[in-house]
Amino acid sequence: MKAIVMTGIGAPEVLVVQDVAAPQPGPGELVIRTEAIPVLFPETKLRSGEFPVPVEPPLVFGFQAAGVVTEVGADVDATWVGRRVAVDTAGFGSYAEFVSAPAASATPLPTGLSSVDAAAVLMNGSVALPLLETAALAGNETVLIEAAATGVGSSLTQLAKEFGAARVIATAGGPEKCARALELGADEVIDHNAQDWPIRLREILDGATVDVVFDSIGGTSALDLLDAITPLRGRMLSYGWLSGAPAQVSAMDLITRGLTLVGCAGPDWLAGVARSRAAVLDRAAAGTLAPLVDSVLPLEEAATAHRRIEERSPLGKIVLRP
Ligand SMILES: NC(=O)c1ccc[n+]([C@@H]2O[C@H](COP(=O)([O-])OP(=O)(O)OC[C@H]3O[C@@H](n4cnc5c(N)ncnc54)[C@H](OP(=O)(O)O)[C@@H]3O)[C@@H](O)[C@H]2O)c1
Repeated sequence: MKAIVMTGIGAPEVLVVQDVAAPQPGPGELVIRTEAIPVLFPETKLRSGEFPVPVEPPLVFGFQAAGVVTEVGADVDATWVGRRVAVDTAGFGSYAEFVSAPAASATPLPTGLSSVDAAAVLMNGSVALPLLETAALAGNETVLIEAAATGVGSSLTQLAKEFGAARVIATAGGPEKCARALELGADEVIDHNAQDWPIRLREILDGATVDVVFDSIGGTSALDLLDAITPLRGRMLSYGWLSGAPAQVSAMDLITRGLTLVGCAGPDWLAGVARSRAAVLDRAAAGTLAPLVDSVLPLEEAATAHRRIEERSPLGKIVLRP
């Protein structure tokens, strides 16, 4: 079968199309014939070496795929065969024509939802739902959603009001992405390409405060935001570090303002993300969460997809199709 092999750690060119043996389902696993493979932002960080790669390359790259079950392991219910599902691989291996994955990760695709849309919405929505549940918005609160035009931020922006946000302030990079954040449901948007964007936030707030920050940028801007957060009640949900560093916030920074920083990462967090997968696909099928697809590219163009994500140009998910 054709697969994208990560031949080393480095620039997008390390992703090379090769013929490799098709996977066999091991115990507890199933194999799908892939129809749609999302290219995920964190994957670009693994490929570049910014995030540690737990296995030595070469390896078939990628983590998620949607397609049709072709085979199951000896201990897996045979009625899975022929069903359309989305899967998370146990390690790598999703940028390929056939993918093995734990049967426990298989989420059936609802009728009417395309593989491409399922692939595009799965990660964004399944992180956004637990974030919104964790935020436990009171109904009268103001939220700040960073990097709101794409990825997890785009799902948060679509769902925030339904989950109780009264006012949604978004950040995005550049005029096109700012316009997209407004289309998705933000009331106001700030261009985070300006270094001093937290100051612009204070201007917009005009003395009011933000109750919940969904922080994906991290770094020093997280610290700069603290004085704009409601004392004693405000919380910052830290789930990413697009700036290259986690939120640069100390316990004393929080204690002296009475704020809460909630870490949204790690194995237990990811178990909650996995539990949200079926609800996300149901929402996408029902039309209450739009899958945002930038483009569908042939599997062979995985390196191009990574390059485009690093240029920050996609306005939605890039999906690979074998
Ligand atoms: N904790 C979790 O469970 C979890 C799960 C998935 C992802 N994440 C993290 O959440 C963050 C967002 O991931 P995603 O998949 O939702 O990404 P994404 O939105 O698909 O892509 C990243 C976006 O971030 C924006 N951005 C802002 N500052 C950036 C910078 N310094 N470098 C590159 N891009 C920057 C870019 O938009 P603009 O052009 O508008 O700036 C870009 O479109 C990442 O840090 C990721 O690792 C966490």
